[in-house]
Amino acid sequence: MSSNVVWHNATVTRARRETLNGHRGVAIWFTGLSGAGKSTIAHSVEERLHQAGCRTIVLDGDNVRHGLCSDLGFSTLDRTENIRRISETVKLFVDAGVIVLTAFISPQRADRLRARETLGVADFIEVYCRCSLAECERRDVKGLYKRARAGEIKDFTGISAPYDEPELPDVTLDTQALSVEQCVEHVVQNLVMRGVLPGGRV
Ligand code: ADX
Repeated sequence: MSSNVVWHNATVTRARRETLNGHRGVAIWFTGLSGAGKSTIAHSVEERLHQAGCRTIVLDGDNVRHGLCSDLGFSTLDRTENIRRISETVKLFVDAGVIVLTAFISPQRADRLRARETLGVADFIEVYCRCSLAECERRDVKGLYKRARAGEIKDFTGISAPYDEPELPDVTLDTQALSVEQCVEHVVQNLVMRGVLPGGRV
């Protein structure tokens, strides 16, 4: 960063935006294998919050990789850079007072830890969408597991690239056993418990 760049302090602060919104800004960070349900649940939670008048946005792997991260692939280094850029973007939204829901595999524990550091523990809720590889492969919504097994996609998470399971996620959703509605309820209750928004609102 150039030393000639000086931070400008705003008069409209995060706290004032949050007061206007009637809820806190926060990052709800979904992690899990491809097909574990991250995007589905993130969008369903967003729908519920939006109907309650909350300011929300979903950042999703498949979409962000078309724009902000279109130059990145799936090597260890590229995934690290993917998560770094996303974390910084999420930070801007959280500062804007928005409830941000992210749906990225984010398979590397060190990257998730860095995201937690970038955002700060109070603003980072790690939600582990737990689903066995066998079930994700059975679902194979995008047909990518089949192609990965056939050797057509290299470094595929769960097949030829690792997924580090979260050790202490804030929320664990057993997406194999629970319905989408039950998962949404777990996440919403966690938000209320943390005081992100008042219970009466959702
Ligand atoms: S991450 O590992 O860097 O967090 P991200 O969530 O952005 O991954 O992108 C994952 C999505 O990209 C998957 O849902 C899948 O549709 C697609 N994809 C394409 N190639 C791969 C691969 N080699 N490994 C995992 N996902 C892949």
